[in-house]
Amino acid sequence: MVNVVLGAFYGDEGKGKIIDYLSKEAKYAVRFSGGNNAGHTIEVDGHKFAFHLIPSGILNENVKAILGNGVVIDPKVLIEEINNLKENGYKVDNLYISDKAHVILPYHLAFDEMQEDLRKDRKIGTTKRGIGPAYCDKFERCGIRMGDFVGSNFKEYLKTNIQNKNVILAAFGYPELDFETVYNEYKEYAEILKPYVVDTTTMLHKALNNNENILCEGAQATLLDIDFGSYPFVTSSNPTIGGVSTGTGIGAKYINEVYGVIKAYSSRVGEGPYVTELKDEVGDKIRELGHEYGTTTKRPRRCGWLDIVALNYAIMLNGITAIAMNHLDTIGKLDKIKLCVAYDYLGKREEYFNSNLEFLEKSKPIYEEFEGNFGDISQCKTFEELPENAQKYIRRIEELTHTKVKFIGTGAGRESIIVR
Ligand code: GDP
Ligand code: IMO
Ligand code: MG
Repeated sequence: MVNVVLGAFYGDEGKGKIIDYLSKEAKYAVRFSGGNNAGHTIEVDGHKFAFHLIPSGILNENVKAILGNGVVIDPKVLIEEINNLKENGYKVDNLYISDKAHVILPYHLAFDEMQEDLRKDRKIGTTKRGIGPAYCDKFERCGIRMGDFVGSNFKEYLKTNIQNKNVILAAFGYPELDFETVYNEYKEYAEILKPYVVDTTTMLHKALNNNENILCEGAQATLLDIDFGSYPFVTSSNPTIGGVSTGTGIGAKYINEVYGVIKAYSSRVGEGPYVTELKDEVGDKIRELGHEYGTTTKRPRRCGWLDIVALNYAIMLNGITAIAMNHLDTIGKLDKIKLCVAYDYLGKREEYFNSNLEFLEKSKPIYEEFEGNFGDISQCKTFEELPENAQKYIRRIEELTHTKVKFIGTGAGRESIIVR
């Protein structure tokens, strides 16, 4: 049986915490897309783990953690994460890396930097981790996959790529890369990672034949999807449901539950349209109360109200079967809460989301207002124990989405979760 966790909005919804919880029941936790542009936080006994590449399920010791073929891997970052886990007493011999996952190399980082510069006043606000350029090479068919990286062709492939990339870097006045320096550094990384590289697709098919539980963990989120997000202000992969199949090799018929993660408000980091953004002191207050600063880049996150129009889009696109909503504690510290139930697009009420930039830029949110001041909810372990105002807010979300809010986050700690 395969369950999936996906971000429903613009990322950073608290997927890490939900994945950690759900992987208690799983035998496998699989990342299927993105790279170390992701930052997934799990707080265990006051210690904060921030995973960029390693599946968040790895903290559960019975889980085999897989980096699927759809992921792009910066070897240096992955090795740092492996070492950090070891230092904290976790074992990593249950980590497996797809031989078909693509490698992020120094020229991808250089290109990410250069391309953002060249975009001038139309910057995307990328994480500058080389993600877009690595996926470009994958589709251009000059990418280096993990199997090549740890195999005998790496030197030759790298040499050709560096020669070609240097022509472009030089043309735009950016420093060229020295093949020998890169090769000598990266061949060491390849040696370290070699034991982890396997055919993960066959591994997953064997697990499916044995009826084992697999949790596919999303990075990024629906509105950052290369096809369905607010293009071009998106990432370069498919964090939506289709990415599960192409990024792991698991057929659609095996997928059971699809959990869509949201916050009780919303946030976005990087450029691009955001209908319910609050550019005022309420937005600043949410940022401070929710500690909304990037896990990966430390950038302040743009904050705003929860958007049902966008959420219903994510539910339809992904076939979300239940919602996981984090930060109920944070939103409950405000006096009044707003929920966007429709858009006003040029004077017309619109309930369907359209990722077209012009539509999003001209749409104004139509709000319903709710009472806040939930008080301390850290001790609430059931929905019924939550204060009436909190219950009302959640019930209205369920009514508007026709979807159950199955998990409710009441704090950052791994145990701060109500399951219904
Ligand atoms: P992800 O990328 O979706 O995994 O989310 P991030 O880890 O980037 O950001 C979510 C942040 O919210 C992290 O700092 C989490 O520790 C924190 N968090 C998650 N759930 C809750 C919650 O229910 N309440 C509070 N206060 N913090 C939460
Ligand atoms: P998690 O998994 C939030 C955003 C970047 C930028 C855009 C493109 O933690 O939710 P990229 O480096 O991917 O080319 O940047 O996508 N972005 C994220 N925003 N959370 C993430 O991951 C993100 N990954 C990418 O800020 O706007
Ligand atoms: Mg994050």
